Amino acid sequence: MQIDIHKENPIILGIETSCDETAAAVICGRKILSDEIASSAKTQALFGGVVPEIASRMHTDEIASVVDNAIKKAGITYEDIDAVAVTYGAGLLGALLVGVSFAKSFAYALGKPLIAVNHIRGHLAAAYLVATELKPPFVTLLCSGGHTAILYTPDETREEVLGGTLDDAVGEAYDKVARVLGLSYPGGPNIERCIAEGDGKPVVPMPKMLKGGGGYDFSYSGLKTAVINYCHAKQQKGEAYSKADVAASFQCAAIDVLVEKTMTAAAEKGVTTVTAGGGVAANGYLRRRLQEECAKRGYTLVLPEKRYCTDNAAMIASEGLIQYRLGNFAGLDLNAKASIPLSATLKKGDC
Ligand code: KG4
Ligand code: ZN
Repeated sequence: MQIDIHKENPIILGIETSCDETAAAVICGRKILSDEIASSAKTQALFGGVVPEIASRMHTDEIASVVDNAIKKAGITYEDIDAVAVTYGAGLLGALLVGVSFAKSFAYALGKPLIAVNHIRGHLAAAYLVATELKPPFVTLLCSGGHTAILYTPDETREEVLGGTLDDAVGEAYDKVARVLGLSYPGGPNIERCIAEGDGKPVVPMPKMLKGGGGYDFSYSGLKTAVINYCHAKQQKGEAYSKADVAASFQCAAIDVLVEKTMTAAAEKGVTTVTAGGGVAANGYLRRRLQEECAKRGYTLVLPEKRYCTDNAAMIASEGLIQYRLGNFAGLDLNAKASIPLSATLKKGDC
């Protein structure tokens, strides 16, 4: 197989199936040519969260047509593809296996190289699709359903994890608080809608988050428990309470600490560019707070569009492009992994 890793604008097919979204996208250099997603979120909402078996079955049903649509909408042929990049971890094992197996057979059948992508590095790489001239160094706030961390990227190929959550991820806290408030999955957008019914003021006392004392670490389990206890106590006493007030109070506590620590990290690392990624980065309040704080300091903020914050395959292709240029290809013995270190990059022979 002839691979030109110096090709100016390689065409990368990205495939993502780590959770409840079956996604495929095609990029040419950093330009998105197509971006397809089939989500099982509506079905999952009936069960109050993601049921792994339902996710795997839906991926199996959808993957072939989602990939086919992505290639057709990109206006390319199979032959034009330079590499197939697929999420190999972290995520739900059965769900990941669908994408990995499909990508392996697809790459093998077409005689194209395969690239193994760490889902979290994919979220980081989404920023390169918005700001195509973006160059490290920068600091990233990564906040999804599975992770909450602040990372420092000195160059495209590596990042330093400055801190992360000691317990729940912020998105997980959103999902659990939503359930207590009787809102359906996914919690984040539904909590935002609920807050819009009130005045958005944080009037319900919430526990102090790990601010200065916790370095760059976070803890969300205490905040989640405080909301649960508040609602249960009110229910037991037969007292009415405003869901919008509780949701707004939770959101301010959950988000303010993220923004504050991201700004501290940028100052400490001496960078003037801040990026964000992961599903919670689609949150309107977080986006506004980041914009305000970056503007005050004269920092450049690179915020992917909302659809590129939540799970998608364009970000997987974007990270695939970085690995392509490094010549970091995977073998057909690539396996899915439910859990991998936050910033792991699979090297050939590691799988
Ligand atoms: O990145 P993502 O799509 O999947 C993971 O890799 O986890 O993130 C999903 C998480 C869910 O917990 C969801 O509730 C949260 O992101 N989320 C939001 C918003 N949209 C999605 N949280 C707050 N506000 C939102 N608008
Ligand atoms: Zn994700």
